[in-house]
Amino acid sequence: MKIPLFKVNMPKNISVDEILHSGFIGQGQYVDDFEIKFANHFNLEIDKVVSVNSCTSAIQLALELENISQGDDIVTTPYTCLATNTDIIRRGANIVWYDVDKITGLSRLENIEKVITRNTKVIIITHISGAITEDLEKILAFCHQKGIKVIEDAAQSLGAKLNNEYININSDYIAFSFQAIKHLTTIDGGILYCGDYEKANEGKLLRWFGFDRVISSDFRCAQDVKRLGMKIHMTDINAFIGIESLKTVDDIINAHIKNAKLYEQLLPIVDGITISHKIKSGSSFWVYPILVEKNRDGLKKYLEENGVYSSLVQNRLDGMTCFKSAFKLLPNLSYFMRRILHIPCGWWVSEEEVSYIVGIVREYIDKGCFS
Ligand SMILES: Cc1ncc(COP(=O)(O)O)c(C=O)c1O
Repeated sequence: MKIPLFKVNMPKNISVDEILHSGFIGQGQYVDDFEIKFANHFNLEIDKVVSVNSCTSAIQLALELENISQGDDIVTTPYTCLATNTDIIRRGANIVWYDVDKITGLSRLENIEKVITRNTKVIIITHISGAITEDLEKILAFCHQKGIKVIEDAAQSLGAKLNNEYININSDYIAFSFQAIKHLTTIDGGILYCGDYEKANEGKLLRWFGFDRVISSDFRCAQDVKRLGMKIHMTDINAFIGIESLKTVDDIINAHIKNAKLYEQLLPIVDGITISHKIKSGSSFWVYPILVEKNRDGLKKYLEENGVYSSLVQNRLDGMTCFKSAFKLLPNLSYFMRRILHIPCGWWVSEEEVSYIVGIVREYIDKGCFS
């Protein structure tokens, strides 16, 4: 038996042939349609949705829209994908790490408050493994009162809800990912949701050199560019795949949550394992995070020997050479990193396989491998 941690979910029996040979494969009608359908599906305002070619680009665009440059402090999490934080350094701004919650790995207001500086312009939080921090509302209120913007990295959390809502009405920026192994894939792709209409309009210009693709047919030649843009737009091919994937995205998200519910019933009988994200958190459970009290790497190996793939998913970024100037002691993160392990809970995992995985974990502990 082989149970992967990730799997690509491509819509079946679709053909991109017509688009490929239509003479127009860049950003066109399918991209517009995908933005509308995505917005409708997840209760977003369509005029605030800016599609791009990845979540990495969405985060870069948000930093650009906030004019982040040398001397600015960006308060951010070290337990996230490299993509969340690289552009901060590239822009010459400073990274200020905050410590994470020691059980969930998520962002907490009390940790953010401790490290805020006079030069803080933006705070970044990541909805790790599919869960939105329960402090989101409080973090947004705290930051807005200080004139600080919040970027939510939602790359792993499509379909997650907090207080039964997909997004908070006070959110400034939310960056989504449609990379290969996400709940919804367009092969690669992303959306930047902007809380402010003007920022969204500016984002639409900046994603394609700074040109307005709507107001004139000969946009390359007829327009002056006021602000230098990027080239990070989505293409019609990716958007078409996204439109097709949206038809089944609820089934996919629900399958992840159903497996997580089963883990939550079965795992508490296993001593030495702590459930990191509970169902009540509203997580969409991209992966299922557990904390392993002792010898986590031994359990990871034992799972693999029995055909089950597990992973830390991301290592702490504060240990990397490229971020060394931002060094800080982060005791909660150290506690979390010694224990965290993600096990498979995706749409491809059956109920029997969840029981099998729990059985393997239990067997490992019963054998005394913990000590
Ligand atoms: C937390 C987080 N942020 C950003 C990204 C980057 O997303 P993309 O590959 O769409 O650029 C990822 C990718 O997995 C991620 O996990």
